Amino acid sequence: MNIMRREPHPLTGTTYEALGDGKVKVQKEGSNAYGIFSWQGEWLEGEVTQADPLMLLYIAGPDLPRDHEVMWMSAPAKAFDGTIPMEAFPGTHMDDMQPRIVGSYRPDKGQETDEGWRSIGYFDPQYFIDNDRKPECIPPEMKLTNTISGGPIKVNTDRYWKQEYHDLEVEKIWKKTWQMACREDEIPNPGDYYVYEIAHLSYLVVRQADGSVKAHQNVCLHRGRLLKDCSGRGETVFRCPYHGWSWNLDGSLKEITTEWDFPGVREDAAQLPPVQVALWEGFVFINPDPEAGSFEEFIGPVAMAHYRKYGFEHRYIQANVSKLIRANWKVVMEAFMEAYHVIATHPHQMLMSGDLSNSNYDVFGNWGRASQFPAPGSPQRGIMMTKEEALEQYYRVADGQRGLMQALTGETLEDFSDLELQGGSFNDLFPNLHPWGGWMRICFRFRPNGSNPDESIMDIYLLAPWPKDKPRPVPAKHRKLGFDDAWTAAPELMSLSKITDQDVFNVPSVHKGLKAKQPPHIWYSAYQEAKIRNFHVNYNKAMGIEG
Ligand code: FES
Ligand SMILES: [Fe+2]
Repeated sequence: MNIMRREPHPLTGTTYEALGDGKVKVQKEGSNAYGIFSWQGEWLEGEVTQADPLMLLYIAGPDLPRDHEVMWMSAPAKAFDGTIPMEAFPGTHMDDMQPRIVGSYRPDKGQETDEGWRSIGYFDPQYFIDNDRKPECIPPEMKLTNTISGGPIKVNTDRYWKQEYHDLEVEKIWKKTWQMACREDEIPNPGDYYVYEIAHLSYLVVRQADGSVKAHQNVCLHRGRLLKDCSGRGETVFRCPYHGWSWNLDGSLKEITTEWDFPGVREDAAQLPPVQVALWEGFVFINPDPEAGSFEEFIGPVAMAHYRKYGFEHRYIQANVSKLIRANWKVVMEAFMEAYHVIATHPHQMLMSGDLSNSNYDVFGNWGRASQFPAPGSPQRGIMMTKEEALEQYYRVADGQRGLMQALTGETLEDFSDLELQGGSFNDLFPNLHPWGGWMRICFRFRPNGSNPDESIMDIYLLAPWPKDKPRPVPAKHRKLGFDDAWTAAPELMSLSKITDQDVFNVPSVHKGLKAKQPPHIWYSAYQEAKIRNFHVNYNKAMGIEG
């Protein structure tokens, strides 16, 4: 069933109403004047000739089935095996009972703090930590802050679209860096293998008979055919479909067909070139560089400590969706590294909640953290909250999360502080993985599409907990979406798909703009875009280029 949406604009009160066929009626508050627009942003008729493109997209763009418009982080495993219908659990994203918050826009003039300039909606995280009801439970690493100094900075636009940068990324990043290949439950049993592709490179990640995981190049050592075109289960030998050369699961040579015709070649073909493997929290990471340091060193102790208590290895794949996008992988990725864009990109979210002005950005080497604390409802609309009210909300969020987890998994989370129970932080691990914290379930990955710097693949994994005394739910089937499919074409992402459509609506236009822009640089801010600045520090270092 189509949802015929009708909502006020959060900053102006102008009404946006779906008319069907992807058309939107836009009517000014307190006026009869209106205009009709297509959801893609084109004015069609009427006196009102301007409209917010992201609001048009939200109101009449591609949409979810009504029963899937629920919060992705509160769905129980049973909703996905069809045991209980979607509509049977609460959590409608745009709950009709919730009041809409409209307030006219006003500039956030900022405030100077000991750490530097922050939003007027910023409260020091230490205030919440000092008032935590279980301070003894907080892992010490979670109390650390580390803001990257300097900024705003300029970044040259060349890196987002020039082939020479893509080619250098292959050599300096994709062949040299730890990167997430798959989840362990994608290769649960001996002989299960995952074809991991990055740029034009291809690897086989293989569960061995002894339960360990090994990985090697997915390329036949005779005339170079890929050994496997797609992932699969229960293999005993990798036999090339071209002339039948074969290798064992560990990559050692099994047979050269008509070997009498290849005297002296056995030694060269003895082993498929291996790559390093590291298992962490249910993720399988690989690094093609045999000289690379350990994964633990790469991610660092601070990052590891942030995930330890949440049991990430005990998460099943609730959704697994990939989509082709007409923009460089870094352009897409950077759309998910700050909350600064909420005011323009996610107007519908502001209707229900704030502008996320109290997001805290900290960086620890290859890992970045954006933690969320209760904040004034919406400082850019003059809706403020006192410190006491914010603390009440801090407790309310913690209690709500504990109740939700108890309902979903039976766990009472007695040894969790209020801090650990806050809405998960949106974290990133260089170069291309976003493993969100807490129970947000989100894990994004961003990859170039083959050798084309103008295109990328974005993957969304939702990693969900389930009751520990029950068998691990079967991982969701991998769904692949094309360039012109909306994320809402994957209803298993629930309300996240509608939000991600807004983020991804912008990025092809960012990519085009970057190629056209003069002068050829863009800006990243001192604080709110600090995680992106940190990415570029790491990127420059890996690429061996000047910042
Ligand atoms: S290319 Fe693989 S056996 Fe010939
Ligand atoms: Fe967003």
